[in-house]
Amino acid sequence: MPPISPIKPSPVKLYDFHPTVADFRSAVLRGLSLPQKALSPQFLYDKRGSELFDAICQLPEYYLTRTEMQILQDNAGEIAAALGNRALVELGSGSSQKIRILLEAAPQVTTYVGVDISRQHLQEACAALMDDFVGLDAIAVCADYTQPLPIAAIPELKNRPTIGFFPGSSIGNLEPAEVIAFLKTVAVLGDLIVGVDLKKSPIILEPAYDDTQGISAAFALNLLVRINRELGADFDLEQFEYQARYNQALGRIEMAIASRCDQTVHLGNAEISFQAGETMRTEHSYKYTVDEFQLLAMEAGFQPVQVWMDRHQLFSLHHLKQI
Ligand SMILES: C[S@@+](CC[C@H](N)C(=O)[O-])C[C@H]1O[C@@H](n2cnc3c(N)ncnc32)[C@H](O)[C@@H]1O
Repeated sequence: MPPISPIKPSPVKLYDFHPTVADFRSAVLRGLSLPQKALSPQFLYDKRGSELFDAICQLPEYYLTRTEMQILQDNAGEIAAALGNRALVELGSGSSQKIRILLEAAPQVTTYVGVDISRQHLQEACAALMDDFVGLDAIAVCADYTQPLPIAAIPELKNRPTIGFFPGSSIGNLEPAEVIAFLKTVAVLGDLIVGVDLKKSPIILEPAYDDTQGISAAFALNLLVRINRELGADFDLEQFEYQARYNQALGRIEMAIASRCDQTVHLGNAEISFQAGETMRTEHSYKYTVDEFQLLAMEAGFQPVQVWMDRHQLFSLHHLKQI
């Protein structure tokens, strides 16, 4: 008799392009050797990072998630009609909560592809969708969406029209010039529906990225925990602190980890020196007006056809068509 496995086999097909540990090490070493030290935001999302991000989404200060979900709910019929029966490809799908609103409204969509860097979280989210939406084929693609999408490697998408969904204002992590290049790359998906956070007062913005319970701080500092665990570094977490400030001139929240003192951190044979107050950038989150974002989309060759907003105009959801 075969041994009884306690683990339920996942029905979800996974196409795995997860960066290797060697890729992670070289990206971290490269980022920490820059004059302004920087770590790519994609590395914030290991399993624990994804759990912490989900906790951030529940925070009273983090208006983004509940506002975008409200926009999706209020306009579900219209957005579902825009999807048609194309295969739906979600970039940075996380726990795939927002897509549920669209799948409820669009039963004609039978193929869903979640693209995310956080492999286990992605697989679990796709499995939960398959449990809850009968007849839906949910496919997990673990990949870096800032690189050309490995569409050709996904047989389920062969000769299928697709539409891209990129919620969460994750597009704000890219520099404006990178947004144009990114949109040109993901144009391979056809039309796009993109969530974009709007410009607003720092009184609302800063607490959203630096909450009173310290979950945003734990999320950022978890990256040092991850580097210690996966790359054998010796960051002392007590000696670093999280910062989030709104740079009004550039229209972006600047998130960073600052060194509390002069210190040296070891990562393999590398020694990385920090002066007291020196920062490692972890994320930028750009905020746009509707016009500013539509201009970028047009420069990338898209035609903005519709924008949905909440009644307080905190957040926008753009439908961009291929010209
Ligand atoms: C801000 S969260 C948004 C999650 C979800 N879409 C939402 O709207 O709540 C960003 C998501 O994108 C994923 N992610 C971040 N950078 C990525 C990258 N370069 N490539 C693929 N996934 C990425 C993270 O793992 C995370 O699930």
